Amino acid sequence: MTKPPKILYDCDTGIDDAMTLLYLASLVQAGEAELAAVGTVHGNIDPMTGALNTLRVLEAAGGPVVPVAVGAARPMAQDVHYAVDWHGTDGLGDTRLPEPAGRPTAEPAAAQIVRLARATPGELTLLATGPLTNLGAALLLDGELPSLIREVVVMGGAFDHPGNITTHAEANIWHDPEAADLVFAADWPIVLVPLDATHPTAVHDDWLDRLAAHGTPVSRFAADILEFYADAYTPTLKRRGAVIHDALAAMLIVDPELGEYAHRPVRVELRGELTRGTTVWDARSLPADDARRPVKVAVGSDVAEFQERLLSALMAF
Ligand code: BDR
Ligand code: CA
Repeated sequence: MTKPPKILYDCDTGIDDAMTLLYLASLVQAGEAELAAVGTVHGNIDPMTGALNTLRVLEAAGGPVVPVAVGAARPMAQDVHYAVDWHGTDGLGDTRLPEPAGRPTAEPAAAQIVRLARATPGELTLLATGPLTNLGAALLLDGELPSLIREVVVMGGAFDHPGNITTHAEANIWHDPEAADLVFAADWPIVLVPLDATHPTAVHDDWLDRLAAHGTPVSRFAADILEFYADAYTPTLKRRGAVIHDALAAMLIVDPELGEYAHRPVRVELRGELTRGTTVWDARSLPADDARRPVKVAVGSDVAEFQERLLSALMAF
């Protein structure tokens, strides 16, 4: 039997990050993954609110109890922006949850990545579903980091799919293009899960209604938070629904066969007047004229299986 993956989750909690935390908690409770720690970053919300939200969600799930470190409060080379229209002013759909019992740790999230990578060389999977500032900072802190990490799994980018924050750029990459490009330039195995793979997984009323009707405290908690997100997504999807992007990245760690992939070097547009923050690959059939290590890019997934597994996980508590 293969060892369950040891995951360090870097996120900007955030509604779909919250669903991903619940999914990870269900995997931990089933013995299918280990959650080593969480770090938070600016993005959907500021990183302290994201850390408190992380604690709220893990406490609602009944554990696991893991260190939650606060990370970068701003991107490397631009102003910070939050996504309150999508996630609410509290990051959890304006549900105004009470203070968590736990507190974030004092260690910065980038330092936590380096420390845990050094403590368990070759074991850690970094799951990143927010802007990549903490991962970029960790690479700057420790040049040997890529050789210490088992795999990096990132939700971000858009290739043949339109952007979701500008015409071409996806939010996580656009929030810190410089950090994202550092991550794609490093010599470590990366799985990138862009909008091309996540958008088709949108869930709609039938799925949301099944979750709400289940009636356990955790399923009601998830359904309440998703209300705001489903309202926000209605104009884009042209019907009520939600794209739970970040959970697909987590699921592809434990079950990579659910995805279809292309292997290409990836760069981030850093100077474009209209396209800053866009992920770029060379789609020509020629051998790629790029010395960067190819990224394993998810271009599709088994949508029905993803939706059912996520629903079962949210109803499992
Ligand atoms: C990504 O942006 C954030 O708003 C979501 O949490 C997700 O990680 C989707 O583009
Ligand atoms: Ca996110």
